[in-house]
Amino acid sequence: VRKVIIDADTGIDDALAILYALKSPALRVEGITTVFGNVDVQQATENTLRVIKLASPAYEVPVAMGADRPLKRPPTGFSAHVHGHNGIGEAELPPSGQRAVAERAEDFIVRKADELDGELVLITLGRLTNVALALAKDPGLARKIKQVYVMGGAVQAAGNVTPVAEANIWGDPEAADIVFASGLDIVMIGLDVTMKTHLAQEHLDFLQRRCRPENREIVEFLRTSMAYYFEFYRQANHFVDAAPMHDPLTVLAAEEPGLVTNRTMRVTVECESALCAGMTVADLRPSPSVGTPIQVSIDVDAKTAVGKLLSVFI
Ligand code: BDR
Ligand code: CA
Repeated sequence: VRKVIIDADTGIDDALAILYALKSPALRVEGITTVFGNVDVQQATENTLRVIKLASPAYEVPVAMGADRPLKRPPTGFSAHVHGHNGIGEAELPPSGQRAVAERAEDFIVRKADELDGELVLITLGRLTNVALALAKDPGLARKIKQVYVMGGAVQAAGNVTPVAEANIWGDPEAADIVFASGLDIVMIGLDVTMKTHLAQEHLDFLQRRCRPENREIVEFLRTSMAYYFEFYRQANHFVDAAPMHDPLTVLAAEEPGLVTNRTMRVTVECESALCAGMTVADLRPSPSVGTPIQVSIDVDAKTAVGKLLSVFI
């Protein structure tokens, strides 16, 4: 069983990623830390608590709230056009009795990395601000964390916020730069693979027919929130009744690395240019010399990944 912390800006695809992680017998979610991004950090925290209640895991999952803005840049707006005003596609979830812990996200990450003694796998589904703050608190952190699966970036695919930048990196490039250069063992699950991994209406219909009775509310939630997400992807990317599974694929790959094919590349996060801020620049020359070597996912077995995603609910 892999021990993971998920750091999320709980929007529509983060919610599904968290639901999957809480249902998977191969993962133990040691905690969830929250960050601004799709919504503000208070809303991301509230959504996380409600999604945990919806999943009703057999064990306790602490939630620690983190950054409400980028490290150095002024706070930006949120993504209501993608994820709805409440971040979960205007779906309504009942409030949870659980509250966030008093500890800040970065302190939680530092403490858990110590406690879990080299076993912790970090999965980031939003801006990398909390991880950058954790690295500032504990400069030895990179050696204590087994691996970090980062949903973010694009090396060959187009960007999704600007022509070249993916949202999670674009939203705090300086934080991403610190994390990418930190020596952490990073697997970058970027748009190169997430844009190829689609959940479609037919999958939701299958879940409605086949889910276990105790997962019925989850499936209803997914049908409502995904309808919103599908509509955004119809307008933005001409998808038909489907959407890419950015955050769920990142959790799936952290659990089963064989779902993706990785290549070691030297990558730099662009922080200076206005046009290219947040671009993940890979040095693809035959003798690369610019950037820090990380693992970049370049291919995915999308069919198996989506099958696995659905399997925990049926
Ligand atoms: C990423 O941005 C957010 O909108 C999604 O939740 C995902 O983490 C995709 O670029
Ligand atoms: Ca996210």
